[in-house]
Amino acid sequence: MNMTVTPSGQACGARVTGVDLGGELSSELISEIRRAWLEHRVLAFPGQQMDDDALERFTVAMGGFGEDPFFAPIEGREHIAAILREADEKTPLFAENWHSDWSFLPRPPAGTCLLSVDIPPIGGDTLFADQIAAFAALPEGRKAYLRTLTAIHSAQLAYAPEGAYGEKDEGRSMAIRPNESARATQTHPLVQRHPETGEEALFSTLGYIIAIEGMAQAETMALLSELAKWQGREEFTYRHRWEPGMLVIWDNRSVLHKATGGYEGHRRELHRTTIAAYGS
Ligand code: SIN
Repeated sequence: MNMTVTPSGQACGARVTGVDLGGELSSELISEIRRAWLEHRVLAFPGQQMDDDALERFTVAMGGFGEDPFFAPIEGREHIAAILREADEKTPLFAENWHSDWSFLPRPPAGTCLLSVDIPPIGGDTLFADQIAAFAALPEGRKAYLRTLTAIHSAQLAYAPEGAYGEKDEGRSMAIRPNESARATQTHPLVQRHPETGEEALFSTLGYIIAIEGMAQAETMALLSELAKWQGREEFTYRHRWEPGMLVIWDNRSVLHKATGGYEGHRRELHRTTIAAYGS
């Protein structure tokens, strides 16, 4: 098989054909996929015949499973969660804000894999924003300043009992499990060097970042809001359109992502795993 990588023509993202991810995953194939993944940050593999076993095998080959707090896995699996919305669901859309998965953990997952299960005929695209490009496009003085900052991350706004997916979030089909541990905080440099490519990126954003070390809260919020607008500028984004039988993997160290709606009256389900932090 000959793997072909076709760039999306947008800020990042590529479509990969000529590979069968339900078949043998040789070390040569995984190395080739990893190279393309680091270059394009988001890879979409259309036309795959993958079941949950194949999704697990691929995740293990890409670096092993990451930790997944606040989601109950699907039945019979330890590491697969369903990103699910029923056709008649009325809850606010899940993950409609820019984020990097689980950036509040001490060792956030290097990547995320999402396998289409039930794709609506319209809407439900996933947006990605390239944070290496976003950082590179800043003026040098701004870059130098941002490099000095340490961000304080927490899951509290989303997953604490009073958070967006907390006790008041009724009628959601996704198996989200809010709890008190969401109040924990974790620091990470605001600008991180990608551990595999050495490129600098803005890591995570407002929402999971709740404060900046040594900065007053009002100043923090002003900075994070201004930065969030920059991080999600159209010139840094890729809009991903889902297809049945498609696997997508993205690099949480170099992109932000968010869900979009527009599929009211249709069911949407994707199976998700996370790839462990590099070197875990
Ligand atoms: C997610 O943030 O993991 C979900 C993305 C999506 O539903 O498109």
